[in-house]
Amino acid sequence: MSGVTVVTGAGGVGKTTLAAATAVGAARRGESALVLTVDPARRLADALGLEELGNDPEPVPGESNLWAAMLDVTASWEAMVNQHAEPDVADRLLANPYFRAIADRFPAAQSYAAGEEMSRYIESGRWDVIVVDTPPSAGGIDFFEAPANMRNLIGGRLLRWITGARLPGRKALYRIAARPALRLADSVLGGPLLEEIADFFIDLRTLHDGIAARARHVERHLAEATIVVVTTSDPTPLREAHRFFGSIEAPDLVVFNRALPDDWADAGPSGFEGKLGMVADKAMEVWGTEAHKGSRVRAEFSDRYGVRVVAVPWMPTPPTDTDSLEELGRALTP
Ligand SMILES: Nc1ncnc2c1ncn2[C@@H]1O[C@H](COP(=O)(O)OP(=O)(O)OP(=O)(O)O)[C@@H](O)[C@H]1O
Ligand SMILES: [Mg+2]
Repeated sequence: MSGVTVVTGAGGVGKTTLAAATAVGAARRGESALVLTVDPARRLADALGLEELGNDPEPVPGESNLWAAMLDVTASWEAMVNQHAEPDVADRLLANPYFRAIADRFPAAQSYAAGEEMSRYIESGRWDVIVVDTPPSAGGIDFFEAPANMRNLIGGRLLRWITGARLPGRKALYRIAARPALRLADSVLGGPLLEEIADFFIDLRTLHDGIAARARHVERHLAEATIVVVTTSDPTPLREAHRFFGSIEAPDLVVFNRALPDDWADAGPSGFEGKLGMVADKAMEVWGTEAHKGSRVRAEFSDRYGVRVVAVPWMPTPPTDTDSLEELGRALTP
């Protein structure tokens, strides 16, 4: 079975970059590694210096052990529906605009699809190491809650309330759709809107057994994964990083990305004369305060949770090839 690392954290902190750096490091140590991203902004392709990145894992040119894939959420949901639903239900669901909107746009659906895809690759046994970059929209912790949320949505009270305790047949469905209020709404909205919605909820419920079983697999894989939380010293990502402790399995590593060197904290005056000296001294004071804050926040974090904390330096230029990613990733290995 593959060793799995899930890289998570708030938006924009460097998840995609550090997921790629982790996979490059593993590949260059001789393990076969796959990095899986859900980021439609193609940041993984940029970080790896690639033109294209597809839904299926492809070898990264110039690296003998490294593969990368960018998840297509809609295609993954189509595959799941085809797998879990009867063929006629699958056809109806895939043609239903509400289903498409949920699969395409809802963060929970994105997170769940990423978890399913991750599980499929883990179970294939094809790679020694799989690194999963969590979607930006999931905002960290939601990624881990997605399997349970999906199970609860499809099997839960909301759908039962809408569609009735027992799964209604088509006739009952048309009785729902024939209610005067719904008919009126449909005529005002100018289409079979509520009929489509009722159709959608009922079809969704038939997916329950398949999705519930798969969701448990996804949860098991997540429980066994190494969890890396990426943050910076800024308040918003830090708050997100704190939320990980006590709510799911504790993270294994907290990475403070774009950290300033510790020795900037007490660098002292620049030594330049005149106006240049004044500007340089002011800049050094500002960066010195930042560097000091960074090292204090990291120490507080490791004291409070007893978790391994590392600092990844702020590079002068963002990494855009595998060599610079490897260099960045060195800070992550003990
Ligand atoms: N240590 C670093 N030094 C310099 N630049 C960095 C570093 N880490 C990340 N970056 C740059 O910061 C930007 C954001 O990084 P990245 O896309 O990896 O963040 P993310 O957490 O995946 O964002 P999102 O939540 O939008 O998916 C990118 O331009 C990346 O190249
Ligand atoms: Mg990203």
